[in-house]
Amino acid sequence: MRLSVIGTGYLGATHAACMADLGHEVIGLDIDPRKVDALNNGIVPFHEPGLPEVLQRALASGRLHFTTSFADVAEFAEVHFLCVGTPQSDDSGAADLAQVNGAIAQLAPHLTRPTLVVGKSTVPVGTAQRLASELIASAPAGEAVELAWNPEFLREGFAVADTVRPDRLVIGVTSENAENQLRAVYASILAAGVPLVVTDLPTSELVKTAANAFLATKISFINAMAELCEATGADVGTLAEAIGHDERIGRRFLQAGLGFGGGCLPKDLRAFRARATEIGSGSALDFLDDVDAINQRCRTRTVAAAITLCGGNVAGLRVAVLGAAFKPDSDDVRDSPALDVAAELLDNGADVVIHDPAANTNAAALVPKAQYVDDIESAVTGADLVLLLTEWKQFVALDPAVTGQLVRTRRIIDARNVLKRNEWASHGWTIHTLGRGTLLPQTG
Ligand code: UDX
Repeated sequence: MRLSVIGTGYLGATHAACMADLGHEVIGLDIDPRKVDALNNGIVPFHEPGLPEVLQRALASGRLHFTTSFADVAEFAEVHFLCVGTPQSDDSGAADLAQVNGAIAQLAPHLTRPTLVVGKSTVPVGTAQRLASELIASAPAGEAVELAWNPEFLREGFAVADTVRPDRLVIGVTSENAENQLRAVYASILAAGVPLVVTDLPTSELVKTAANAFLATKISFINAMAELCEATGADVGTLAEAIGHDERIGRRFLQAGLGFGGGCLPKDLRAFRARATEIGSGSALDFLDDVDAINQRCRTRTVAAAITLCGGNVAGLRVAVLGAAFKPDSDDVRDSPALDVAAELLDNGADVVIHDPAANTNAAALVPKAQYVDDIESAVTGADLVLLLTEWKQFVALDPAVTGQLVRTRRIIDARNVLKRNEWASHGWTIHTLGRGTLLPQTG
């Protein structure tokens, strides 16, 4: 089929490359000519394992190219996927729909024949219905232009796998024709047994925000338990394992620590909350305020633990921060808990040295006052305190004996619950783990 993908950020670039790789003819559009140039040259402008290979293969097949022209896109494709960003507004928690509205406004005047427009961006419930009416009103083809919604659930770091083998496909449609076209787009994925949920527009929009709200709630639940564990001398790791054995609960997304960040969960949570208030159902989502507050407290608890561990003051101390990305295998620092903690320690007068295997450049643009180094050794040498804030595998594999030779003082905070604390304590370290408290050096 001939498809277009409008917006080539994280979601769109992945969708375009994967759809072409599956055999469709794809044109990708972005208003940023630098992104278009990079993608046409096989360069992915962000860190995503496996995506450059898929992109290059798709370009080499001749089935994929990128443009800045809406006229080209409308001429070429029969199905248009809308993949632009819906960031948080500057002045509230609500989603900023300027990119979605802009893309529809620019595409519509070029739609002169029957076409299906498929939204993939995460939007407040009710947006799809409004856009459907706007398309009919402003496209020359009028009622022959249909809108469907097809939310994506891809995780950074697993974007390709989540696109070609998702847990499920969800499509919100208003006609059999739209359903059949989307079944044809995803034929090979459906043939592999991926479940398909066919529903209406508002349900499909809500599925995405509900899924993200549930995941965020699960993480904040275990982090609330972590606070109780710290207050009572209990161990949140064992607690998560024990409750996770119950299949109704499950162990995944119960990793206590510094909480969630990134370009999706935090802003989607706030946008969902804001939308519920707008439609008069605010009290149904009051609890999401607590989910957000628990998550923010993970950051303040980590800073407080750093200050306590250093005897009440970090001013003038050298603090090694391991990790700046919001999660490992990513260079994304949007709403990153790690970078927030680093910035707060800088504000408290610490001399902060950051090492992240992929996110140093992005982090330096946001927190330029920190010092950035290219390896673990340079970060920890002479440190008065080490903080493990993003669980990159090389940090998880840190050797307490070797690291102990490099630091000035053997103090570490494991904010992701990944280090074997008894081993660290037995090598003379004071180790604080979120949700498990502080373990003093074990002698003898
Ligand atoms: C998330 C959703 O998983 C995905 O379905 C949606 O489409 C976009 O948002 P992503 O932002 O890539 O994907 O990150 P994810 O892997 O879900 O992790 C989110 C954050 O939660 C990270 O900061 C991670 O460190 C944190 N997290 C995750 C925890 O603190 N504990 C956990 O148990 C799991």
